[in-house]
Amino acid sequence: MISVAILLALHGLFAAIWVGGLAFAYTVLRPSVDVMPPPERLTLLARIFRRWFVWIWHAVVIIPLTGYLVMFMLYGGFAGADGFIHLMQGLGWIMVIAFLILFFGPYPAFRRAVAAQDWAGAAPRLLAMRRIIALNLALGLATVAVGAGGRFWAAFP
Ligand code: HEM
Repeated sequence: MISVAILLALHGLFAAIWVGGLAFAYTVLRPSVDVMPPPERLTLLARIFRRWFVWIWHAVVIIPLTGYLVMFMLYGGFAGADGFIHLMQGLGWIMVIAFLILFFGPYPAFRRAVAAQDWAGAAPRLLAMRRIIALNLALGLATVAVGAGGRFWAAFP
């Protein structure tokens, strides 16, 4: 089934882009920019978020869309899907909601504070974003493990 192969490839690629970005942001970017003075650091982060979030918006649309299409093509719908698919979609929706909370909550306030050069005001917004990024990194790693290995958990209900 070539269409399933293409849809799952897209699913896996956008999972890699999303979760890979989270891992890079948390483990490499954050400690690297932490040594910079706030004006440079916060301005750079605002520019990074603007470009990065475009990719995440693609992921939050493409991953569920391809996931549900494959679920219907391979398992015939929700009722026929294995337990690990339900776990994956549950974790996936928590990740999507967490991203939406970040995007419409602390992020606009962070951007406004940086535009106004209010560095003290930007810091708590960045901290709130960082917490959500850490949460989504943990959830994303778990979701990839579930998605990639789940079909071999024979005992999972
Ligand atoms: C939101 C709803 C989602 C649905 C309905 C869904 C559905 C699926 C399905 C049906 C498969 C094929 C499973 C198989 O038979 O082996 C799959 C695989 C996979 N999923 Fe999901 N998924 C969702 C979200 C996610 C998220 C958020 C991630 C990671 C960020 C993810 C990562 C993966 C990975 C890594 C695989 C295995 C690689 C691949 O086949 O592309 N999924 N998913």
